[in-house]
Amino acid sequence: MKSIAIIYGSSTGNTKHAAQLVAEKLAGYSPVLKDIADVSSEELLEPDILILGCPTWSIGELQDDWDTFFPQISKLDLTGKTVAFFGQGDAEGYPDTFVDALGILYDEFAKTGCTFIGEVSTEGYTFDDSQALRNGVFVGLPLDEDNESDKTDKRIEAWVNSLKQYLD
Ligand SMILES: Cc1cc2nc3c(=O)[nH]c(=O)nc-3n(C[C@H](O)[C@H](O)[C@H](O)COP(=O)(O)O)c2cc1C
Repeated sequence: MKSIAIIYGSSTGNTKHAAQLVAEKLAGYSPVLKDIADVSSEELLEPDILILGCPTWSIGELQDDWDTFFPQISKLDLTGKTVAFFGQGDAEGYPDTFVDALGILYDEFAKTGCTFIGEVSTEGYTFDDSQALRNGVFVGLPLDEDNESDKTDKRIEAWVNSLKQYLD
């Protein structure tokens, strides 16, 4: 079985909550759960699978702790590692920059040699634009605790199930 780390940044707790749900649903894989504020770049080299959570803040920007960590990302060699993203956004309040942070992280991690998993269809999401789209699909799992908290658990459940084929 592959080793998994779930690493999140969260300013008001919503992505932390989502990260805990992801960890619960992957309990059989014994993932480690960490806040990016407490993580060194060396720790990102340890697991086989990195599941990374980042909400979008400041109109299309990374959450603060991810923003602080950001310059270290492109220096990592994640060849042979697998990366998936999830993150909170607000599609009603910020419809033109919905979950942009996922796309910002995706572009930076693309420089590390990693392989990406966990893309998600736009079906069921209402927004105008997002930097998290590549070829018409989200690069990771968008969550919207501000408007659609009732959908969070089911969205995470379906996404985690879609990841499992890569985790054995
Ligand atoms: C000032 C401000 C700016 C925000 N900017 C965006 C944005 O550009 N895009 C987006 O999807 N959500 C945006 N959000 C919504 C947050 O991503 C959302 O509230 C999220 O749940 C916060 O996650 P956290 O509790 O893990 O920090 C913004 C929220 C605030 C208060």
